[in-house]
Amino acid sequence: MNPLEVSLEGQVAVITGGGGGIGRGIALTLAQAGANIVIAEIVPERAAEVGARVRALGRRALPVVMDMMDCEQISTLIAKADDEFGRIDILVNNAGGVSGRPFLEQSERSWRRHIDINFVSMLACTHAAAPIMIRGGRGGAIVNIASSEGSRAAPNFAVYAACKAGMISFTKTMALELSGHGIRVNCLAPDHTITPGMMGNRTGPVDEGQWRKRSPEEEDAFLRSIPLQRFGVVEECGRAALFLCSQASDYISGVTLPIDGGTSAASGWVRGRDGRWTLQEGLSFGSAR
Ligand SMILES: NC(=O)c1ccc[n+]([C@@H]2O[C@H](COP(=O)([O-])OP(=O)(O)OC[C@H]3O[C@@H](n4cnc5c(N)ncnc54)[C@H](O)[C@@H]3O)[C@@H](O)[C@H]2O)c1
Repeated sequence: MNPLEVSLEGQVAVITGGGGGIGRGIALTLAQAGANIVIAEIVPERAAEVGARVRALGRRALPVVMDMMDCEQISTLIAKADDEFGRIDILVNNAGGVSGRPFLEQSERSWRRHIDINFVSMLACTHAAAPIMIRGGRGGAIVNIASSEGSRAAPNFAVYAACKAGMISFTKTMALELSGHGIRVNCLAPDHTITPGMMGNRTGPVDEGQWRKRSPEEEDAFLRSIPLQRFGVVEECGRAALFLCSQASDYISGVTLPIDGGTSAASGWVRGRDGRWTLQEGLSFGSAR
């Protein structure tokens, strides 16, 4: 096989939150590469839409409408995937969500919901799916969708960021604990990727007409903070996940790959309005653009 050709032919991938945004982008990319797809999704229309697209690509799809905040439903999801396909090769722990407010204004109910969707769902899914990968004896790949917030301070998003940091840590430990079974465990850390959730369309069918419009000033401020000067798109997360799930990354385990247009490298440096790099609006250092 051409080393640049990646094929997941015959493999089975479970994608949580697979009906919208980054999960949908990953589901469709893995299906294009040959995988059959299990879509765990809370919005029925989204689950059905991705299921239909996977089938149109000639793969099998199992859309499961469920709540990733419920560990019993997660056990049922993995049992359904096993019943339907008899194997699981890939698990993408993508379901997540955030609402922003200072920690001291956040209720205990809100912390717990953040922890359930962003962290416990990953634990429960890994706990249920990894034994099926081990039973298959073919190895496997687990990809956890963290965030650049997992490696930096995140005012107004303290619990979300702590969950993502926990995800990065858990990834490293699982990379060791599952290595003897040929299961690789890695993270993607996206930033500024255009998705329904990021654009304020968290529920119901994906409707770009409902997406929050940014003012030109807000758009400009965002773009000056991203070295590649554009937002990311879900297909880019899809291709990075395909890399981490495929033979192309056979010797890679326990890493976190930023998908962020360079923001983690920038680490606070932004383009000033005059185009020069600066650590704070109004201050300039050197003349490079
Ligand atoms: N978009 C970004 O810029 C960005 C940046 C960093 C990290 N992330 C991470 O990427 C992941 C996906 O984010 P996104 O922006 O695509 O989100 P999104 O809201 O656009 O999509 C998430 C999908 O998961 C589904 N979902 C939500 N709660 C669920 C639940 N309880 N049970 C089952 N399904 C559920 C939603 O219906 C939706 O289809 C999250 O873990 C998020 O933290 C996103």
